[in-house]
Amino acid sequence: MMGAHSNTPPAETGVPSFENSVAWRKIVGPVDGFLQASVARLTEQINQFDPDIREYVTYALTAQGKHLRPALVALSGNATGVVNDGHLSGAVIVEMVHLATLVHDDVMDEARLRRARPTLAARWGNHLAVLVGDCLFAHSLRLAAQFPTPEVCRVVSAATKTVCSGEILQDRHAGDFSLSREDYFKVLGMKTGELFALSAELGALLNGAPAAQRGALRDYGMALGTAYQVYDDCLDLFGTEGEAGKTLGGDLAKGKLTLPVLLLLEKASPVDRKRVEEWLPAWEPSDLPSFREFLDRYQTFSGCSAVLGGLLDQARSALAALTDSPGRRSLLGLTDFLAAQMAGLGETSKVPAA
Ligand code: IPE
Ligand code: IPE
Ligand code: MG
Ligand code: MG
Ligand code: MG
Repeated sequence: MMGAHSNTPPAETGVPSFENSVAWRKIVGPVDGFLQASVARLTEQINQFDPDIREYVTYALTAQGKHLRPALVALSGNATGVVNDGHLSGAVIVEMVHLATLVHDDVMDEARLRRARPTLAARWGNHLAVLVGDCLFAHSLRLAAQFPTPEVCRVVSAATKTVCSGEILQDRHAGDFSLSREDYFKVLGMKTGELFALSAELGALLNGAPAAQRGALRDYGMALGTAYQVYDDCLDLFGTEGEAGKTLGGDLAKGKLTLPVLLLLEKASPVDRKRVEEWLPAWEPSDLPSFREFLDRYQTFSGCSAVLGGLLDQARSALAALTDSPGRRSLLGLTDFLAAQMAGLGETSKVPAA
């Protein structure tokens, strides 16, 4: 559907933002009404907060994001039956958990920009951002508790705990040069894969689909979400803030060793490895261009693309358990779309030949 088999017009080379991309619109087009309804229902939640804090909650809930997780709920719902009102509530819940994690993440990462606007913390300070994030977590669990079965609340709370635990592990590994790929992927699965897995699983669960379909969609979401975080980690080093709409370059500033750096450390000569180990603890944002030359010398971007490709293959394989349907085709399309985004990032980040 996308990527190699795509109908994407040539004008779409580079790094098109998801929302403005023809390929993205094609994937989510069939669930556009659902996504609009989930935005409306998310906005309605503002009234459930104390009038004196609504200004902050409005700020947190109404910025335009990509709505990837609500789209996964809807597409997985389509792939396992018919989308119903429960899916809409599920979409609001996963997006609210996601927004809560972003509000807290921006405090920890000291990010200034999110969704092309100042972060909540940049506007109102860390205390307020931590507490607004807490309110959003609590409210999403309250919504999850409104389903007739406790199962939704159980899976949402378990996933939320895993996401926060992943952020803790990541923080604990800051500046750790002994970080293995295994450690890195554990963090990715927990902090990002888990919420994608939950979103895809909810699509099936809320249709009462068989356990095999639920499990397959969970596996799909986990692989896709992990791949998405690999892409995001590359964006942090190879992307531009204008395109991403959020603060970039912060991973190294925070001592986060992401896949490009791990590949560099794996491949580098002993001399270069020592240089990197001495360089990173004294990191200055202005170091990025010279560090990029280093990353390019060891072809770390193509190494990351290969890893991402393997994860996307895993996501596609998981869908083998489902019969063909428009929803399943869109889920497959998402994997090709992410591959194309990564390829686009590689194109735009190339250092021009001297
Ligand atoms: C950002 O997620 C955090 C990561 C997991 C990389 P998104 O890229 O889905 O953020 P929004 O919702 O579109 O802003
Ligand atoms: C994703 O990691 C954060 C969460 C899953 C909460 P990042 O810290 O890389 O996300 P961005 O780049 O700030 O969106
Ligand atoms: Mg961050
Ligand atoms: Mg972070
Ligand atoms: Mg990031």
